Amino acid sequence: MKKIIAGITLLILFSGKVLFATEGMWLPQLLSVLNEKEMKEMGMKITAKDIYDVSRGSLKDAIVSLGGFCTAEVISDKGLLLTNHHCAYSAIQQHSSLQNNYIDNGFWAFSASEELANPGLTATFIIRIDEVTQQALEGVTGDLTERERQSRIDKNLNAVRASAQKESWQHMLIRPFFEGNKYYLFITETFTDVRLVGTPPSSIGKFGSDTDNWVWPRHTGDFALFRIYADKNNRPAEYSKENVPYKPKRSLSISLDGLNRNDFTMVFGFPGRTQEYLHSAAIAQVLEKQNPAKIEIRTRALNITDKYMRGNEAIKIQYASKFASTANAWKKWQGESLGLEKTRAVAKRKAYEADFQKRVDANPEWKKLYGTLLQDLADTYTAIENPALYRDIFNETMRNVEILSFGTRVIPLINASSRSADAYEDIKTELLEYSKDYFKNYSKETDREVAVALLNLFVSTMPQSFVPATLQADNSALVTSLFNSSLLVHPDNFTATLQKPMDDAVATLSSDPAVQLVSSMARLYSENNVATVNTLQEKLNGLQQKYMEAQLTVFKEKRFYPDANSTMRVTYGKVNGYSPRDAVEYDHYTYLDGVMEKYVPGDYEFDVPAKLIELYNKKDYGPYGVNGKMPVCFIASNHTTGGNSGSPALDAWGNLVGLNFDRVWEGTMSDINYDPSICRNIMVDARYILFIIDKFAGAGHLVREMKLVHPKKQGK
Ligand code: ARG
Ligand code: GLU
Repeated sequence: MKKIIAGITLLILFSGKVLFATEGMWLPQLLSVLNEKEMKEMGMKITAKDIYDVSRGSLKDAIVSLGGFCTAEVISDKGLLLTNHHCAYSAIQQHSSLQNNYIDNGFWAFSASEELANPGLTATFIIRIDEVTQQALEGVTGDLTERERQSRIDKNLNAVRASAQKESWQHMLIRPFFEGNKYYLFITETFTDVRLVGTPPSSIGKFGSDTDNWVWPRHTGDFALFRIYADKNNRPAEYSKENVPYKPKRSLSISLDGLNRNDFTMVFGFPGRTQEYLHSAAIAQVLEKQNPAKIEIRTRALNITDKYMRGNEAIKIQYASKFASTANAWKKWQGESLGLEKTRAVAKRKAYEADFQKRVDANPEWKKLYGTLLQDLADTYTAIENPALYRDIFNETMRNVEILSFGTRVIPLINASSRSADAYEDIKTELLEYSKDYFKNYSKETDREVAVALLNLFVSTMPQSFVPATLQADNSALVTSLFNSSLLVHPDNFTATLQKPMDDAVATLSSDPAVQLVSSMARLYSENNVATVNTLQEKLNGLQQKYMEAQLTVFKEKRFYPDANSTMRVTYGKVNGYSPRDAVEYDHYTYLDGVMEKYVPGDYEFDVPAKLIELYNKKDYGPYGVNGKMPVCFIASNHTTGGNSGSPALDAWGNLVGLNFDRVWEGTMSDINYDPSICRNIMVDARYILFIIDKFAGAGHLVREMKLVHPKKQGK
């Protein structure tokens, strides 16, 4: 009775402001069962079938996975694609030089012939999603070892693949969900001719750069445009002059009305990876071990790279994209650690585990199945703590010292030579291709200084057994001599060597000092750690699968969503500000006025283009401004993660109102521990995007391709 009264009082207290749970990244084909009712209560005006339907065009047919790392959406019936500037950044950088600096100046195609091809970039539509759990888990019994279980599943999945229906130009993939407790099959269509149509200059598309990254209030016009091309039958085809703009089954209308506080919104896209069901011991490890080690390595690499980029325009272009991606994760890990501390994620997870254990212990059958799970997980995490740390330090060192990461690509070539001449030729062709772009973006001075810093750190943080005898506490002299003599830093010598007959080339490469350093580091790592990590990881995978199964069984009243795994998801929430700390309140919208407040003439990160200042001074916003102001970004409680970049933010009717591109600093721990009070996703307002294309760039012909709507006036 007391509880009921308390509940009623709560309802009264919050009356007019009903709180909804906005956690979750949901499977689009299950919305009608799990979410539709709640979405409607929150304000959605369309049905789950309007979002996902295989029998007619639905919203899902306008959404693509861009290259597997971002999301994009079709916004015209000529295959025009909208995504983030930072998702297009590597393409923009590839097309840029000191003469044609699209990073600094932006780029706009004024006719189809000016659109730029991007070999390797893909756009993948989801045709259909089918559950195949039953087939996948057939004959999988509790007594199998983790390895037996996996091989049984692999066999089952091969049978599923063999019998699945698809057209010849389509693909299929099967993914595990809920730690391997459910399986879904995806039929996909991948377009490989995706051309760059337009991008604002970085002073708009990347305004605030790394200082503002992951931070609210934000003022970035983080968008770019591509176009999908197809063959004459509207099917995927390799790049060809004969290809024509793709005619989509569905394209998104764009709303000119914006959103208000408390308005419903959803984000539709391809979130990459979350770990919402970790054991508390795993969270503690991320916090105490893994994040600090990775942050320290990248801090050193980034400080050095930043110094060279600021001192030299050519290096700034060469490293623009690499620096952005290294800095992005580096900064996120810091926000994540702060957020995990602040929300007491470990303590909260321990309380959840105590509840789990209590329920399990009270049920004899569960106790038999799951009684020791938590203890087993805790023990295995303790065992993997150091091996996982060594893995991170090794991988980060190899990744951030370019001469080493390039070396790891040369070793497979040497190894292939002992297998067969054909294998060698295949890898050689790939490596020569790779090395062109690699050397184009390589600065020897920068890498040399990074190499000294990171090798020194490697020696001081790794156990002796991982450190090759050639490395010392101070590796300056070693690195100098390495960079003087290694082929891996001389593009011409490297290419010339690969042109020689196989045996000669292999002899030269094998005796290269950088290749030798990489092989000895790799060999010691492999001897000391690979088997240990793999065995423990396999054990953990098995335990996680059981733990997930147990949670689904024990917390029957809870609505679970599967961790992100780069498959298509819908997340929904409401537009709202938040309070990051005592006495501080953040609003939900930013305006062009805020861009001008941050403006620092000539600054590396906060410069503003003259044309934009002029438009601001004249308040020349065309149909895109509201009451004399130009909206720029807004936030909502949608649960998003990396990969959701470029996802459309949709209004209650399914019109595009914004473009997702980031999360707020205090909420980046949502990959592990979502907290509705401070987790917010950041979107660019669609009106700012249109304003920049039309008024700033003078590319109104692109806006005329789109369908603009006034849902709040028209009610649709
Ligand atoms: N933080 C956003 C995301 O995770 C944007 C990254 C791009 N921006 C940047 N300044 N590096 O991808
Ligand atoms: N910027 C991220 C991306 O590239 C999205 C932000 C996030 O991680 O939520 O996908």
